[in-house]
Amino acid sequence: MTTLKVFLFHPAFIHFPIAFAFFELGLLLVSCFRGDETAGRFAAWTGRVGYFSLLPAAASGFMSLGGLNKVDAVTWPHVSAGLILFVWWTLRLCFERFFQEKAKFSILAFSAVTCALVMLTAYRGGNLVY
Ligand code: HEM
Repeated sequence: MTTLKVFLFHPAFIHFPIAFAFFELGLLLVSCFRGDETAGRFAAWTGRVGYFSLLPAAASGFMSLGGLNKVDAVTWPHVSAGLILFVWWTLRLCFERFFQEKAKFSILAFSAVTCALVMLTAYRGGNLVY
């Protein structure tokens, strides 16, 4: 229990959505502008892994806070950005499930928006610590 309290789960887990979101964007750029189908398929996989890695990131964030009811005016900007990111990424994946092949450039734009939201969330998280 002491180790659980001391170990900082949130800073450990948040790197996964950040890394996967940007890796996906890079792969989509290669797929769209070089016509590399393998990169396109890998990007779809990378996007899903990034999405699911949001769950431990958010859960550990609420652990750091000490519960759902501990959100206050100071933490709200970060928590709300994280929740918006989660809702956006969910909608994106639903759309992409049906239009994967037909909407390559839309998916590239959606991925860029995801990276922007990830950065906003992380920036506001950093504001809580630095
Ligand atoms: C929506 C649920 C989330 C909650 C409740 C939450 C909560 C917190 C809290 C309380 C902190 C202060 C430092 C700490 O106690 O660890 C923090 C820091 C931070 N969070 Fe979140 N967070 C959430 C989601 C996210 C997500 C999805 C990301 C990544 C995109 C993220 C990125 C960060 C970063 C970069 C910091 C600064 C950490 C550091 O440098 O130590 N958070 N967050």
